[in-house]
Formats: sequence, C-alpha cells, structure tokens
Amino acid sequence: MNHSLNIKSMKLYNNVERIFNELREIGKSTSDNLMVKDLSKFDQFHYHGTDAIDISIKKLGINDKSKILDIGSGIGGPARYIANKTGAKITAIELQSDQNQLANSLTKKCGLSNKVNHICGDILDYDFKNEKFDAVVSWLTLYHIPNHEILLKKLYNLLNPHGFFYTEDITSRIELSDDEVKEIEKEIYGKHLPYFNKYISNLEKSGFQLIYSEDMSSSWTEFTKDRVIQFNSEKERNIRVHGKEVVDSLNSFYNFVGKYYSNGRLGGIRCLAKKKDLSTSSSNSNSKLI
Ligand SMILES: C[S@@+](CC[C@H](N)C(=O)[O-])C[C@H]1O[C@@H](n2cnc3c(N)ncnc32)[C@H](O)[C@@H]1O
Repeated sequence: MNHSLNIKSMKLYNNVERIFNELREIGKSTSDNLMVKDLSKFDQFHYHGTDAIDISIKKLGINDKSKILDIGSGIGGPARYIANKTGAKITAIELQSDQNQLANSLTKKCGLSNKVNHICGDILDYDFKNEKFDAVVSWLTLYHIPNHEILLKKLYNLLNPHGFFYTEDITSRIELSDDEVKEIEKEIYGKHLPYFNKYISNLEKSGFQLIYSEDMSSSWTEFTKDRVIQFNSEKERNIRVHGKEVVDSLNSFYNFVGKYYSNGRLGGIRCLAKKKDLSTSSSNSNSKLI
C-alpha cells in the first residue's frame, strides 16, 4: 500500500527541515552535535510533548533490556527520547523518506545511532524477518492506516509472548458527515477514526487484553486550542524564524485540528494492551511489564 503519494496533503508533514530554523535560534549550526533536550520542543509530533512519552515509559516499565518498535516515528523525537532516558533499543519505522532521513541524521547528531535504528517503510509491508519486540508503541500514527484488522494482526505477530502494545491515537466522537470525512482525509490524512469503545473492542478481537485506557478528548481539545493561541501570539517571531510560507501552512494545520477537537468531532485514546496467548484458553494475566 502506498500512502506516501498524498499523505503530504497534511501540512504538518511539509517543510520538515524547519527544525533547523529553531536550532539556529538556539545557536546550533546544522553540523553541531546535539542533545536530546535541545530537540524535544520541536521533534514531538503528537500532543503534550515528552510528558506523553514519560507516561509510556512508566506504564510499560521500559529499561535498558527492552526492545521496542516505534511505528510512524516521524523525525524520531519519541524514539530518541526513550533511548536516551532508558537505554532501550528502538526500531523506528517511518513511511515518509524525507522525515526518516532527517530522523536518522538527528539521531546521529545525538550520538544515539547505536540505540535507535531508523527504517523507512510501511508498517503493513515491511519484512521484519523473525525479529520480535517486547513492546510496540505509536503516537498519532495509526489513524492514517485504514485497515486495523490487518495492522493488529501484524503487530500481534511482531510481539514476543506477553508483549505489549501502547498507543495514542485519534478517534471520532460523533458520526461524521461525508463532507467532514473528506475534509479530515485531506487535512490530516485521517483514514481510521472509530469511536473510543470500538477502538478497544477491535484490540480485544485481535488477540489483545486491555490493561489501561484513557479518553484523551478533553485534554487534546485544550492542548490544540492553546497551540493555536500560542502560535498566533508568536506570529511575528515565527515569520522571522521560518518565513511566511511555513507559518501560513502550519497555522492552517493547527487551526483545522483545533477546530475539529473543539467542535466535538475528533477525540483521542491512550491505551495499553497485552498480547494474549491464543494457543491456550486462558491468558497469563500475571505476566510482568517489560
Ligand atoms: C503525526 S506523525 C507522528 C510522528 C511521531 N510518532 C511523533 O509523535 O513525533 C505520524 C507519522 O506516521 C507516519 N506513518 C503513517 N502511516 C504509516 C505507515 N503505514 N507505516 C509507517 N509510518 C507511517 C507518517 O508518515 C507520520 O510521519
């Protein structure tokens, strides 16, 4: 399946090199070595930045023995943050080659290439041979993938016995009109937006046992509303740093997203589930987190 032809209709994915404008602002040249903390304000393409990643590290108990697969790794922010904080080994798969190349180069500059392996590919097609992971994690990615039955089957098979699946993903909160569906597809490349409860029942149907879930809708509504206000309040500074074209494009993206959470159409889920052993009738519910 080739999503890369029109996923760029989502404006967040244009001008990804803009991160170097921000780095220049803090006095870093494109050839400098970097620290993960230099990047964290700019390389997290989900909500609540590294606070959201800290929650996953805690809930999964990630440590230096953990082997993690990060799906839709973007420019590598979450993967670098986890590797740097815990010493875990991360395989980070990203569909878009420009983002993946940038991710790889930032990871090198942070001296983390021995911990984070960046792969460019589609999670549905990529052949991991016999590699297995202790946990599959993913932020704000899986709503781009239409068929979750196939996706979840693949993830199930990529996990070690009693491995974990952790995600933050977009949901819908009311029935969307045809026009809204079209607009969502164009502006955020939204392809899979079940209701919260359906998201969980899909997981359970695919061999996962839910351990924890949280409805993120009000939190993300607030976050995306504040993001619009903040971005506008720094408009002059942003134009100076990035130029008008980049600012207009990001502004349009932030406004669209803010509107669709605030009008009650879109919402969110954060959840943790465990791979059940389907070969025996009951799963081992005492298995430890990583
Ligand atoms: C909103 S970004 C989030 C990036 C990253 N998870 C983060 O939080 O910073 C979602 C990413 O998922 C990638 N993606 C979408 N479909 C994918 C697929 N089928 N396989 C791998 N990556 C995919 C997109 O290219 C995009 O970079």
